[in-house]
Amino acid sequence: MPAVALVTGGNRGIGLGITRQLLEDGFAVSVLATREEPADVLAELRELAGADDRVRYVRGSVADPADHARYVQDAVDAWGRLDVLVNNAGVAPSVRDDILDAGTESFDRVLGINLRGPYFLTQTFARAVLDLRGPLDALPDRPVATIVNVSSISATTVSTNRGDYCISKAGVAMATQLWAARLAPEGIVVYEVRPGVIATDMTAGVTEKYDALFSGGMAPMPRWGKPADVGGAVRMLVRGEAPYSTGEVFHVDGGMHIARL
Ligand SMILES: NC(=O)c1ccc[n+]([C@@H]2O[C@H](COP(=O)([O-])OP(=O)(O)OC[C@H]3O[C@@H](n4cnc5c(N)ncnc54)[C@H](OP(=O)(O)O)[C@@H]3O)[C@@H](O)[C@H]2O)c1
Repeated sequence: MPAVALVTGGNRGIGLGITRQLLEDGFAVSVLATREEPADVLAELRELAGADDRVRYVRGSVADPADHARYVQDAVDAWGRLDVLVNNAGVAPSVRDDILDAGTESFDRVLGINLRGPYFLTQTFARAVLDLRGPLDALPDRPVATIVNVSSISATTVSTNRGDYCISKAGVAMATQLWAARLAPEGIVVYEVRPGVIATDMTAGVTEKYDALFSGGMAPMPRWGKPADVGGAVRMLVRGEAPYSTGEVFHVDGGMHIARL
């Protein structure tokens, strides 16, 4: 039975980059997303996996705890094991508003999807892993399971016209620390992958702005990030080769987080 990875938002953008790389590494992958099953994407992924039964798609929202239970149970029923959760699904605010004007509706939507969603999906996933695992005699040398939270450079960098997004990602950084500490004695490790600016649908509307910023030296590496750059980081972290590390933050931002003079 292949190792099993759950990738929220694994149908598009960064999540699709992650799904592809985990399939290449032999994982069975289940995607959670809100859109109708994307037949073309699933066909490509099943071809990449070399087996139809190594890819599943659950339609639901990470903002809805009832969908968490359904999503995790679907993978357990299909494959009988859980190895990796990648909390990737996320949204930008529908409108970028100065925080002097921004309303509560956008705040609640963004935090519900970006923070409350992964926080409680982690709880459901971890409980299911513990049920499948049974009692531990001693902490094993390799992780029992790995959780990766996709946050953002916005966890620590302010944008005063999308405060809700920044707060949601700062919350994801804290959630990573909380879950890393709570799950360490259970053999489950938790990491945060913190992307900079990645070319996806989310950033398609601000291409010119970021083209200019990259040309002006915003990041030491003068190019946009790609979903495959984030996928590569996740692939590395879920291999279980750093079993005595948890709560780590791994930047995928061309060096943007480095303070420079
Ligand atoms: N692009 C960047 O520059 C960048 C930088 C830093 C961090 N990030 C983070 O990286 C993650 C992925 O971003 P992206 O750029 O790939 O965005 P994207 O292209 O807009 O894709 C977002 C993904 O999340 C899914 N999704 C959205 N709402 C959902 C919900 N309620 N329940 C389940 N799935 C949902 C979408 O699928 P459906 O539409 O089918 O629901 C889609 O797969 C996000 O957490 C984002 O904050 C992005």
